[in-house]
Amino acid sequence: MRIVCIGGGPAGLYFALLMKSRHPEHHVRVVERNRPFDTFGWGVVFSDATMQSMRQWDPKTAATIEDAFNHWDDIELVFKGRKIRTTGHGFVGIGRKKMLNILQERCIELGVELVFEHDVQGDEEFPDADLIIAADGVNSRIRAKYIDVFKPDMVMRPNRYVWLGTNKPFEAFTFDFRKTEHGWFQAHIYRFDADTSTFIVETTEDVFKAHGLDEMDQDQSIAFCEKLFAETLDGHSLMTNARHLRGSAWLNFGRLICEKWSHFNGRSHVVLMGDSAHTAHFAIGSGTKLAIDDAIELTRQFDIAGHDVKNIPEVLAAYEEVRRVDVARIQNAARNAMEWFEVVGTRYADTLEPEQFMYSMLTRSQRISHENLRLRDKDWLESYERWFAERAGVSPAPNGAVPPPMFTPFKVRELKLHNRIMVSPMAMYSAADGMPNDFHLVHLGARAMGGAALIFPEMTCVSPDARITPGCLGLWNDEQTAAWKRIVDFVHQETPAKIGIQIGHAGRKGSTRVAWEGIDQPVTEGGWPLFSASAIPYLPNSDVPKAMTREDMDRVLADFVAATKRADEIGFDILELHAAHGYLLSSFLSPLTNQRDDEYGGDHEARARFPLEVFHAVRAVWPAEKPISVRLSTNDWFEGGNTPEDAAIFARMFKDAGADLIDCSSGQVVKEEKPVYGRLFQTPFSDKIRNEIQVPTIAVGAISEADHANSIIAAGRADLCAVARPHLADPSFVMHEAARIGFADQTWPKQYRSARAQYENNLIRAAEAAKAAR
Ligand SMILES: Cc1cc2nc3c(=O)[nH]c(=O)nc-3n(C[C@H](O)[C@H](O)[C@H](O)COP(=O)(O)OP(=O)(O)OC[C@H]3O[C@@H](n4cnc5c(N)ncnc54)[C@H](O)[C@@H]3O)c2cc1C
Ligand SMILES: Cc1cc2nc3c(=O)[nH]c(=O)nc-3n(C[C@H](O)[C@H](O)[C@H](O)COP(=O)(O)O)c2cc1C
Repeated sequence: MRIVCIGGGPAGLYFALLMKSRHPEHHVRVVERNRPFDTFGWGVVFSDATMQSMRQWDPKTAATIEDAFNHWDDIELVFKGRKIRTTGHGFVGIGRKKMLNILQERCIELGVELVFEHDVQGDEEFPDADLIIAADGVNSRIRAKYIDVFKPDMVMRPNRYVWLGTNKPFEAFTFDFRKTEHGWFQAHIYRFDADTSTFIVETTEDVFKAHGLDEMDQDQSIAFCEKLFAETLDGHSLMTNARHLRGSAWLNFGRLICEKWSHFNGRSHVVLMGDSAHTAHFAIGSGTKLAIDDAIELTRQFDIAGHDVKNIPEVLAAYEEVRRVDVARIQNAARNAMEWFEVVGTRYADTLEPEQFMYSMLTRSQRISHENLRLRDKDWLESYERWFAERAGVSPAPNGAVPPPMFTPFKVRELKLHNRIMVSPMAMYSAADGMPNDFHLVHLGARAMGGAALIFPEMTCVSPDARITPGCLGLWNDEQTAAWKRIVDFVHQETPAKIGIQIGHAGRKGSTRVAWEGIDQPVTEGGWPLFSASAIPYLPNSDVPKAMTREDMDRVLADFVAATKRADEIGFDILELHAAHGYLLSSFLSPLTNQRDDEYGGDHEARARFPLEVFHAVRAVWPAEKPISVRLSTNDWFEGGNTPEDAAIFARMFKDAGADLIDCSSGQVVKEEKPVYGRLFQTPFSDKIRNEIQVPTIAVGAISEADHANSIIAAGRADLCAVARPHLADPSFVMHEAARIGFADQTWPKQYRSARAQYENNLIRAAEAAKAAR
């Protein structure tokens, strides 16, 4: 085969040498516009996994690279006059120049033709090539030429960064945060050879401009950074090797995805590789890794199909299919980490203490969890757990032991919870005429005995026509009040749990069938008229709701107030106002469902007017010592709907009105929504609201193990974790998770204690067996 790699970066060079090493009869040429030893940038970081596959694919290159590596384990945070260090993180770094030289030498040794100082104008320069690798970097000319085929999607990120170097050898991967009169700057610093370290400085666009950095040349901008980070640089200067860039050389990162990666130009097959196909932000340092992995995968596909021209189309299709998945995974993790650095100044840096700031930073990609951190640096994690527990008012035991974050207590107004887990409200559709019955006593009683500090029954409707289905619970008459009291008394008398009530009105989603007879489908008989902010049905076949008049609002307001008074009388410990999931109050908040042109529709203030009226009325009759939370859909997951930004505005309004907690759910506002599910998928919304609005929050959604909850609580992404479906599967979810992570202070109901030792021993045995099998 005749192969041409346009671009002599890691992708082009590594692919060239792999192909030549497997089939010396291939003619492989790399064409690079720079001179052999020219390059931009400083050091690159690799993981152990990348090195492992490089060893497998070309042991010689891997060995030479490994000889040149700098290995380091520690991460150090420099923040607010403190230095905090953790270990066990395992990185390797190498100078980009050094690595390219190693790859170039190996290419020469294997007989790859290297052409330097040739700026390729287009793929037509190589009419004889069977395969053209467009490894020409993020600004790929080849990709641009076939823009209609590759359909690149480039999103420019808001932060500015400049890639510098210094001769100060840093021992740890250092993150240094500095505040100026205009805002925060951060430096990402890592050493890559005996006396050189990469020094990337990053800030937001407005801080960048406020300092006039957009007007500076490179020398002025370097002088600015040297002054800002003088303490850390310790007399060393900063250097640039990007003299070819115009202006101050501060860049914006562009996140790139391409719809297609290959194209037949009539003579040759052209395929994207490395940064020309995709990018991953340096916050997790994986761009070079992706380039190397691309090169390996394309080679592997040739090995599978056979190194022959006729197999090229099949090979390219398989390469793209395999690599897409891995690239998406890395881009996802890189996105979380990148976003953390984009909002760090406004969201975390001013408010979090250095210890928690470090924890939040280490877990920024949401790929590293609490238990991962324990594996990396047990001592640091334990000291952090002590710090966290002390902040939560827990004194260490005589042996120094403290509960993990999710098992620390939490107090809001006079409500004291003994841990951070609540059973999330879940409709059971098992009532008649809104009456709690034995099912509810057993269902809620079992969960209250299961270890969660707070249990919430399902949405409880404030009037018969506030129900979602005929099977929903209610609180509008004396019989219901008495039946609820039986349940609440049981919880208080028999368990250490507290119990809340979530009051709501179904709005346009009412008068539907119980879930197992067709969720959201209108009832066939015995239905009731619907209200909503606007007269828009939920489904095409749903009943059309009436847009509420002021009179309707007054009636509903009175129903909420009456239910609240009853809830207090019954003895509920906390009240939650359900303003999420497209129900009545939520229908006012979302622009998708509120199209009113009176004072209850329009901007945020107008859309929140009726929900806030209800909140104020409820707050006025709910005792001052008892808290109220508000559940919001923090993302409508649909264009034109509320975004997390909008949710933060509403959260501030409810906070100002006296809400004690914001329960951060999302979606279910319109049927056409396009949610992105995944582990902890709504936690970022809670993180945003808690840390930007400075209001306690509840995180919910795919939180399914202690490790998740510990990570969320420890990082300050929420104050409580609501766990729903895992509690349907296991009423004793919290007791069992406590046993799984070896938290000995979890109490079991006295009647069940004889089961505990056996349960814990079985877990230990299962863990040992799993370890032995590995
Ligand atoms: C600030 C910053 C920090 C980074 N840190 C890391 C890190 O720590 N770890 C990491 O893994 N990655 C890091 N990266 C990303 C990394 O540099 C790239 O992802 C990686 O180099 C991609 O390799 P590539 O071969 O696809 O492209 P490149 O390395 O960009 O190589 C493309 C090559 O093509 C050449 N070229 C372009 N056009 C032409 C043309 N028309 N004719 C001839 N030659 C051409 C270029 O001169 C260049 O040599 C960082 C990036 C930035 C911006
Ligand atoms: C069967 C079921 C019924 C639900 N009913 C309610 C409800 O009445 N009120 C509410 O706010 N959320 C309700 N939800 C949503 C849950 O409270 C929770 O937000 C969601 O299930 C995500 O959490 P999970 O991943 O832990 O299940 C319900 C969820 C389920 C599975």
